[in-house]
Amino acid sequence: MTPTPQPDLILYNAEQLVTVDPARMTPDNPLGVIPKGALVIKDGCITALGGTCDFDLPDTTNTIDCTGQILLPGLIDSHTHPVFAGDRSDEFEKRLQGTSYLAIAQAGGGIKKTVAATRKASELELYISAKRRLETMLSFGVTTVETKSGYGLDSNSEEKSLRVLQKLKRELPQTVCVTYMGAHDIPIEYKDHPDSYVDLLCHDQLPKIAEQKLADFCDVFCETGYFSVAQSRRILETARTLGMKLKIHAEEFTDLGGAQLAGELGAVSADHLLHISDDSIQAMKQGGTVATLLPGTAFYLKLPHYAPARKLLDAGIPVALATDFNPGSCMSENIQLIMTLACLNMNMTPAEVIQGVTLNGAKALDLHHDRGSLEVGKRADLACFNASSYNELLYHFGVNHLTSVYIQGRPISF
Ligand code: NIG
Ligand code: FE
Repeated sequence: MTPTPQPDLILYNAEQLVTVDPARMTPDNPLGVIPKGALVIKDGCITALGGTCDFDLPDTTNTIDCTGQILLPGLIDSHTHPVFAGDRSDEFEKRLQGTSYLAIAQAGGGIKKTVAATRKASELELYISAKRRLETMLSFGVTTVETKSGYGLDSNSEEKSLRVLQKLKRELPQTVCVTYMGAHDIPIEYKDHPDSYVDLLCHDQLPKIAEQKLADFCDVFCETGYFSVAQSRRILETARTLGMKLKIHAEEFTDLGGAQLAGELGAVSADHLLHISDDSIQAMKQGGTVATLLPGTAFYLKLPHYAPARKLLDAGIPVALATDFNPGSCMSENIQLIMTLACLNMNMTPAEVIQGVTLNGAKALDLHHDRGSLEVGKRADLACFNASSYNELLYHFGVNHLTSVYIQGRPISF
């Protein structure tokens, strides 16, 4: 008989072990919580979990008492833009005086302003600032993060941004997913012939990026004044042919039809969706596309309404939540704050919100096979919070509840 392997670590007495395991979910226990829970880790994976009283705790192994804390799957921020130089605090002030985000962009600010600063910045400068931002995200409990390029918009600057992300992917303890977003805006030099820029992306940039394996995903800002549905389709279809997975920024300011396109192309996620139509909801459902909602953006831009989270949930679409961390529409790395905003402004329940930053965040990155919930065989990526229940994470807002974080069973120190 094979002897039972010695565990590397046992965490026990967690006030709530919030498994987010669909097999444990019931209407009365929507996150499959195990009270006074324990979890056993071996070789970076979860090998057992249950009530603490069901385990004989050996004194020989590393055991950690989690009294006063709750244990969640490591949080997943499935939409961020951390590679940029400069800042847009001047635009923040203009917006406070009543100028809209789109009006500022049309006057030459917005993404274009950040592109100018990012093109000038060295790879090292971009690396240092992006690293600091990803470390801040980790300090809030984010163990998997999606990161986009998109402030370079020419071959050299986009590749520079992607190389920064690839270096961070190798060096940082958390998982860094990399998305190419050369279609974040039409660069100034192509303003009078945007289709030529789309040609450049499809015939030059995308093939080069695919060949160098610089990105896992391709994303497009499909919006009035940015990329049309037809242009977005060309870019995303080319990316798909080159083996990239697809994402899209859709229906943030207008109902252009990007979400419909996402469903049709089988995109992994469509993000923002403030103005999504009922038909597009059905298209997303058919395409198996995850809805990634970014309430920090509506909050920060003082928009009159938020994405229709309840409609999407009622349609049976998995809803992920993310920060959209970026210098213009949401300058915050704090996913815990975003979680409270989702409860207050999109009428999501605390359980739906937690699922949005764990299992559904993993679905938005096509990583749910090995993370996003606490189940035997999954990665031991864990976030421990100082709280007696998961409700408290959302109720007590604006502070960082994190006490410790584990990635593949290894405690991470800050
Ligand atoms: O997701 N919508 C497009 N991109 C970002 C904003 C980027 C910026 O303003 O710098 C977003 O909101
Ligand atoms: Fe975004």
